[in-house]
Amino acid sequence: MGRAIHIFNDAEAVSLAAAELVVLAANQAIEVRGQFYIALSGGSTPKRLYQHLASDVYKQQIDWQKVHIYFGDERSVPPEHPESNYRMAREAFLDQLPIPEQQIHRMQGEQVDLEKAAAEYAELLQALPICNGLPQFDLILLGMGDDGHTASLFPGTVALAEKKKTVVAQTVPQLNTQRITLSYPVINNAHQVMLLVAGESKASRLEEVLVSAPEGRYPVQGIKPKGILNWLLDRNAASKLPRMLVA
Ligand code: 6PG
Repeated sequence: MGRAIHIFNDAEAVSLAAAELVVLAANQAIEVRGQFYIALSGGSTPKRLYQHLASDVYKQQIDWQKVHIYFGDERSVPPEHPESNYRMAREAFLDQLPIPEQQIHRMQGEQVDLEKAAAEYAELLQALPICNGLPQFDLILLGMGDDGHTASLFPGTVALAEKKKTVVAQTVPQLNTQRITLSYPVINNAHQVMLLVAGESKASRLEEVLVSAPEGRYPVQGIKPKGILNWLLDRNAASKLPRMLVA
């Protein structure tokens, strides 16, 4: 794994840099393999990135006909719900881009049986290139919650121990809810993972995650892709990191 930590002035600069990296990753994948497979994250930080990708500047830079959209996690809500990650992505950029409808794959958080929804999503992932026996994304976008969760891999939850399934449905007791999420095995099989973290509320946790906490204390520490891991941070989130790490 290659890990890089990039620090930017503010969340806006993080999202612009992320847009540049998405363009690079997409064009590289399309050139080499003819297609680009990306998994999107929910949360507030990537929303701005998505808006940039639909703007005049970036929209022209990717051949959207060759882009395949998947999701890293979903809440147990229907697609039109305000908390739906799918809805957020649709409104922020997917609806404005010429991506063939059959290439946009949402997790069905509205299903009563979320285990079934997770198994169906795992089936969909079989359309990706298979590498090391697992589907391989070109790029997976992730964020980090204040509690150190990423995707819907929350502290203390069963999905953290998943070794085989690529998609897991689980109860998140601390939120009193259920989620569907990609598992570590498929996330860590990606060519590239990009972790976007902004805001002062993340600073202490980020210092623990990257520096002082023992391995395995926080779910995001389990993100160790075979390819590249790019952390994109704003100055506020990075404010408690030692200079050595960020120089
Ligand atoms: C979700 C996410 C989640 C998110 C983090 C960070 O569905 O909520 O996929 O893992 O990325 O909670 O969210 P922010 O970017 O809003 O801080």
